[in-house]
Amino acid sequence: MDILVVGGGGREHAIIMKLSESPRVDKLYCAPGNGGISKYAECFDVPATDIEGQVALAKRLKADMVVVAPDDPLVMGLVDRLNAEGFITFGPDSKAAIIEGSKAFSKELMKKYGIPTARYEVFDDSEKAIAYLKEQNSYPAVIKADGLALGKGVIIAQSEDEAVQAVKDMIDDRKFGESSARVVIEEYLTGPEVSVLSFTDGNIVVPMVSSMDHKRAYDNDEGLNTGGMGTIAPNPCYTPEIAEECMEKIFIPTINAMKAEGRTFKGCLYFGLMITKDGPKVIEYNCRFGDPETQVVLPLLEGDLCDIFESVYNGTLSQADVSFKDECAACVVMASGGYPLSYKKGIEMHGFDDMGQVEGAFVYHAGTKLEGGRFLTNGGRVIGVTATGKDLQTALDNSYKAVSKISFENAHYRHDIGKKALNIK
Ligand code: AMP
Ligand code: GLY
Repeated sequence: MDILVVGGGGREHAIIMKLSESPRVDKLYCAPGNGGISKYAECFDVPATDIEGQVALAKRLKADMVVVAPDDPLVMGLVDRLNAEGFITFGPDSKAAIIEGSKAFSKELMKKYGIPTARYEVFDDSEKAIAYLKEQNSYPAVIKADGLALGKGVIIAQSEDEAVQAVKDMIDDRKFGESSARVVIEEYLTGPEVSVLSFTDGNIVVPMVSSMDHKRAYDNDEGLNTGGMGTIAPNPCYTPEIAEECMEKIFIPTINAMKAEGRTFKGCLYFGLMITKDGPKVIEYNCRFGDPETQVVLPLLEGDLCDIFESVYNGTLSQADVSFKDECAACVVMASGGYPLSYKKGIEMHGFDDMGQVEGAFVYHAGTKLEGGRFLTNGGRVIGVTATGKDLQTALDNSYKAVSKISFENAHYRHDIGKKALNIK
C-alpha cells in the first residue's frame, strides 16, 4: 500500500516509522512533513488545513490510504471529503471529530449519557458567565474555550479577578477567535492525570498502553502550559482495576453514545482522564493521536499498524492484533528557547547523523527543516527523543543520554520527565 500521512510533527513521524515496519507498506508520503520525516517519507508542501489541496494530493499520488493525524483538518472535514472520493482513510469524519472540536458538545454528551466528568455550565454571554462565577465563588475555577485553541484554551483561574479576566478575554475579546465565542466553566478536579489513546471502529474500543504527559514548560510543573514537553508509558497510576473501571464507565459508553447520536467515531479516540478520589473522570477527549503521547505509545505497539488502520476503516477491529510490548518508553521534548511564547527559528542543530538520529534512542522530528544537508529548528517543539527499556528508569536514562548529544542554541528541555512516575512505582 502507498500511504499518505497528513500532518508534520513528532506524532506524524512516529506514525510513519510504525507504518514503515509493516510488510504491506510500499511508499510513504507526508504532507507537509518536516526535515526529519523527509528522510523516511516523501514530503509535499501542502498545509494540513488545505482541505482541497490535500484531496488533490491524495488523488495525484493515487494513495491507497490516507491517515489524517492533526485535529484541525479532522474537525474541518478532510476525512469526509476523502471518503467521498473513495479513499480508505484513518480518522473520524467531522460529525465525530466534534467530540474534540466543541467542548460544549462533549460536555453535553457526557451529561446525557452519564459519563463521569467535572460539573459545568456553558456560556456565550460574558455577564451571565461572570454572574455564575460570583454565585459559585469557588476557586480555582476552570474556564475553557469551546473550540480548538492549540492546547492553550484552558485557564485555571486562582481568583475571581483572574476568572473574570479570562471570561472577558475569551468571550468579549475573542482571544481564540470564534473558538472562544462560547466558554465552558467547570469544577476544578484534582488527582493524577492519565492519557489513554484507543482505537475504535465505532463498534468496539481497544485501548492502547496508557501514558503520562508533562504539559508545563519547566521542571516541577512550573511555567506555562505547552503542547507537551515529554511523556512516559505505561502510566503507573493506571492500574488494572482503574483500567477496567474506565472501560466500563467511560470508553464503551462514549463510543456507544457517539453511535447513538449518529456520529459513529472511527479512528483514534484519546481519553484525557483524571483519577479523582471519586474515580476516573474525563478531562477532555481528543479526536486523534496525542502529541507527544504517540511517540511513547507506538514504539511499544507489536501489531501491524497498517492492518489496524484498515480494520478500523472496515469496522473489523475485533480481528486486528493490538498488543503491546511489556516494556517502558520515555520521550523528552527539546524545544526552542522561549516556547510556548515567541522563539527563533532556523537555528542549526548538531549531534545528528545523516538521518537526523543519535545512537541509543529514536529522534522524532517535530519542528525541523532540512537545508543543504543541515537540520535547522523550525518550530516550538523541535524534536522528541524517545527510548524504550525494560523499565522506566532505563528508558529515561537512554533518552536523556541521547538528549545530551544533541545541541542547538537556546535549546530547552525538562530534566524531570518521568520523575513523578518513578516516585509512584
Ligand atoms: P485540556 O486541554 O482540557 O486537557 O486541559 C489542559 C489541562 O488543564 C489538563 O491537562 C489539566 O491539567 C487541566 N484541567 C483541565 N480541566 C480541569 C479540571 N476540570 N480540573 C482540574 N484541572 C483541569
Ligand atoms: N499531548 C496532548 C495532546 O496531544 O493534546
